[in-house]
Amino acid sequence: MSDPYSNLASEEKAAQARIADAMDARCLEPAQIAIRKAYLTDLGLPEDAYAVEFGSGTGHVTRDLITTAGAARAHGIEPSPVMVKRAKEHVAADARLSFAIGDAKRTDLEDASVDLVLMHTLLCHVPGPEDVIGEAFRVLKPGGILAVCDGDYDTATAQIADFDPLDQIIRFMINQNVTNLWIMRQITGMLTEFGFELGARRGHGYVAEGDAAYFLTVIDRGADRMVETGILFRETAEALKREARSRLAANRFFGFMSYVSHIALKPMAGLNERRPV
Ligand SMILES: C[S@@+](CC[C@H](N)C(=O)[O-])C[C@H]1O[C@@H](n2cnc3c(N)ncnc32)[C@H](O)[C@@H]1O
Repeated sequence: MSDPYSNLASEEKAAQARIADAMDARCLEPAQIAIRKAYLTDLGLPEDAYAVEFGSGTGHVTRDLITTAGAARAHGIEPSPVMVKRAKEHVAADARLSFAIGDAKRTDLEDASVDLVLMHTLLCHVPGPEDVIGEAFRVLKPGGILAVCDGDYDTATAQIADFDPLDQIIRFMINQNVTNLWIMRQITGMLTEFGFELGARRGHGYVAEGDAAYFLTVIDRGADRMVETGILFRETAEALKREARSRLAANRFFGFMSYVSHIALKPMAGLNERRPV
């Protein structure tokens, strides 16, 4: 199965809605909010800055561009109409925010028109991430900022002991839902190749807290997918979902993944095209 996030608009509406629910759950978790705050604060944006999120999903992270990064206006670009509709519903009352259906590889933004481009858990899903980075370079003003954050997916786990069967679901979900597990280990080279100046690179440990709302969506979707692909019988999948909930009830649930963020600058005298390798 190919990563459904890489072409979300082609998925059934119900599948897009289930992913939108998972994105909402993840965005609203305090531990996830803290990660975004850690790398979006103190970017030194100019007053009246215009910021764009590529791959804006349900819009919560686009709103951070105003509330956390301090941009005056923010725009989200996202191929899934289900996501865009939901983002518009979330922020309908805020005239500083806008969303449009589009592809981060080919936006309709003008050259050198944006102060900040954000890619939050986008690039791991895109075949050919270089095209998205090149597009960011094109639309950024000289001196503009690119902020990238993604999972370091090989670190994702729910394992609490040797041979823990719940962890197989996490591994399976990463295998089925991520195009490039290693994007944040490769990104520095890509950024340099395009002419970006490298800024802060930081690691952020995410531990599922409270009701582990997002991790439960991963386990539930993974268990269902294992049934669809013939790995598990339905009753086993349901038993594993119950196992996750029993662990939560007994304070024995553990879910973890590292995220990595990287800030980069378009040089003041930046070339407006991809550099030769
Ligand atoms: C994991 S979600 C993250 C959404 C949002 N950034 C967040 O953190 O809540 C990845 C999003 O990237 C979108 N996406 C995938 N390929 C894209 C592309 N070529 N251009 C723009 N967005 C894309 C998907 O449709 C999906 O909504």
